[in-house]
Amino acid sequence: MTDHAAVPRYSLSMIRLHWLTLILVVAAYCFMEFREIFPRNTPGREFMKATHYSMGLTILGLTLARLIIKFTGKPAPAITPAPAPWQHMAAKAGHAAIYLFLIAMPLIGWATLSTEGDAVIFYGLEIPALLGPDKILSGRLEELHEIGGKIGYVLLGGHALLAILHHAVFKDTTLIRMMPKRAG
Ligand code: HEM
Ligand code: HEM
Repeated sequence: MTDHAAVPRYSLSMIRLHWLTLILVVAAYCFMEFREIFPRNTPGREFMKATHYSMGLTILGLTLARLIIKFTGKPAPAITPAPAPWQHMAAKAGHAAIYLFLIAMPLIGWATLSTEGDAVIFYGLEIPALLGPDKILSGRLEELHEIGGKIGYVLLGGHALLAILHHAVFKDTTLIRMMPKRAG
């Protein structure tokens, strides 16, 4: 049986950023998917959308910070028992796709609002537009953002499933490495 306390972990900052990002991504999806609870042009609907934008932009900032920590900090700890080299490569490609998603989605969303000619508000503070108004481009970007949202479900759902599979079926240390150590 694995001695959990002895398993080498990701750094505490990587672990915190991972789980905080999970909360923010789930919230960003919920605020947008459930916006129709409120009719169009009501304060409730506007609040749902504004919260989606602020959370999405927070995800962008945290992901950039996370990538800096990742490439300047200690490398990811080894998994025991070690998965096959092809699994290691597949995981790397999957993680790269998730990072791309976490950066591209907020940027496309930000560009959608900018080209629409709408102000981009980050927790009450107006931030600069990424591009000038362009209705046609705005429609294309919105479609791209919508497709990206659907891809995200598959990407992140698959990622979570694989993490659980590693833990419950392969019984390796993949998931434990991403858990904070218990105190004491
Ligand atoms: C990781 C971050 C993000 C995720 C996962 C995400 C996901 C989504 C999803 C699932 C939708 C609904 C698409 C549909 O209609 O089916 C949506 C809509 C939208 N998002 Fe995002 N988004 C993110 C970040 C952002 C950011 C940062 C902005 C802008 C600053 C933004 C702007 C928009 C806009 C303008 C819409 C369309 C809203 C409407 O229908 O009125 N998103 N997003
Ligand atoms: C919105 C949801 C999630 C996002 C955006 C996300 C993102 C990521 C990213 C980018 C990495 C790569 C870390 C690195 O740079 O090495 C990672 C690793 C990991 N994630 Fe997630 N994750 C999410 C949800 C989950 C869930 C729900 C679980 C568990 C059930 C999970 C378990 C793990 C584990 C175990 C690793 C380490 C895998 C390895 O290094 O091979 N993640 N995650």
